[in-house]
Amino acid sequence: MIKIEKLKRADITNAYKFIQKNLMDFPLSPKHSRVHWAERFNPKYVADDLFWSEDYACVVAKSDGKIVGLVNGYLDSGIVWFSWLLIDKKFRRKGLGSQLTLATEQIYKKKGYHKAVAETLPNNTRSNKLLKKIGYVIEAKLRKHYAKQDYFQWAKWL
Ligand SMILES: CC(C)(COP(=O)(O)OP(=O)(O)OC[C@H]1O[C@@H](n2cnc3c(N)ncnc32)[C@H](O)[C@@H]1OP(=O)(O)O)[C@@H](O)C(=O)NCCC(=O)NCCS
Repeated sequence: MIKIEKLKRADITNAYKFIQKNLMDFPLSPKHSRVHWAERFNPKYVADDLFWSEDYACVVAKSDGKIVGLVNGYLDSGIVWFSWLLIDKKFRRKGLGSQLTLATEQIYKKKGYHKAVAETLPNNTRSNKLLKKIGYVIEAKLRKHYAKQDYFQWAKWL
C-alpha cells in the first residue's frame, strides 16, 4: 500500500539512498544540478535551516515504509514551486508521479496556496505529458535558463 506524507527527519537516510539510486543516472538535467540536489539530502546537511523551514516542501510516497517517490519544492507568496519529482524506476508508469503531485497540491491548497508551478526541459517528454495530463499548462518558455538550457514553465491554479 502506498502512503503519501511530508518528509520527516527520520526519513532522511532513506531519502538520500532513494535519490542516489534514482536521480544520479537521470540524463536530462545537468550533472552538477543532480549532484547538488542529491547532496542536499545527505544526512550530514539535515540541520540546514532552509531544508527544515516552513518554506520548504518535500513530500514522499512510501511502499511498506520504503520511499518510492519524492517531490521537492518551495513555497513562496501563495505559490508551490516544484523543483523536481522522482519516482523509483520499479514504480514508474503506475500513476504514482501523478498521484504524488496531486496529493502535494492538496496539502498546500488546504494551507491557502493558490498556484503550482513546475519547470521542465522541453525534451523531458514523460514529465511534460504527466503535467499536461493533471491540468498544468505552459505559461512561459524560458530561454537559456538553468545551465543555459531552455525550459518550459508549467502552471496550474489550485
Ligand atoms: C517523470 C516521472 C516522475 C513520471 O512518473 P510516473 O509515476 O511514471 O508517472 P505516471 O505513471 O503518473 O504517468 C502519468 C502520465 O505521464 C506520461 N508518462 C509517464 N511516463 C512516461 C513515459 N516513460 N513515456 C511517455 N509518457 C510517460 C503519460 O502520459 C502518463 O499517463 P499514462 O500512463 O496514462 O499514459 C518518472 O518517469 C521519473 O521519475 N523520471 C525521472 C525524473 C524526472 O524526469 N522528473 C521530472 C522532472 S524534474
